[in-house]
Amino acid sequence: MRPLIAGNWKMNGLSGAAAEVDRLLADFAGSTPDSLDILICPPTTLIAAFASRFENAGLLIGGQDCHPDAFGAHTGDISAEMLIDAGACFVIVGHSERRADHHESDALVRAKAMAALRAGLTPIVCVGESEAQRDAGQAEAVVAQQLKGSLPDTREGDEIVVAYEPVWAIGTGRTPTLADIDAMHASIRRHVGHGVRILYGGSVKPSNAREILARDNVNGALVGGASLTAADFADIIRAA
Ligand code: PGA
Repeated sequence: MRPLIAGNWKMNGLSGAAAEVDRLLADFAGSTPDSLDILICPPTTLIAAFASRFENAGLLIGGQDCHPDAFGAHTGDISAEMLIDAGACFVIVGHSERRADHHESDALVRAKAMAALRAGLTPIVCVGESEAQRDAGQAEAVVAQQLKGSLPDTREGDEIVVAYEPVWAIGTGRTPTLADIDAMHASIRRHVGHGVRILYGGSVKPSNAREILARDNVNGALVGGASLTAADFADIIRAA
């Protein structure tokens, strides 16, 4: 399966950040490698500029969230149609920071994923257990429940991407053991079937990318902090 390396910039990046992407591309002689998909999800304010500036370099651009509706009275929200209009082709939905900060339920995440499909975007649906849930031996059950509630019913092949991001691994420098990643990704694979890319996310960095990306059923990575620096993100891409 074609790997997908996705950078989630979260609420980071002003207009000058395009220079960091220029540095990343310079590392690959100006365009992304042919053998994999490279995606950057910058803050919404940068999507249109990045999409037009980096289109010819093969770099994919995505959003970090979308509203279920196409338009309407939802102050401050962005629809999937607006993201695609701005040049995005992916959108992250159900990131644990949105599930926590904005009280997003599985049902809302599913509605957002369906909105993405309606608009022609590929949703990256995020799931992952808390530390307490893992300690209680519930990690796989929690993730299975999230998948059941968050994934659209009708889908095939590469229409969707799933990102497994244990909440306790995000931004902490800690990662699950490779055996735990194997077990969780195999469990997610049983749920989504073949053809759906399953990304691992949570403290992916140059020093651990190679071993994580080599696992069965790890079809790429969702990278937060390390995607903000061209040198680190380039190393992760090379590891893939
Ligand atoms: P991190 O974030 O790589 O900084 O841990 C990953 C994510 O939240 O997508």
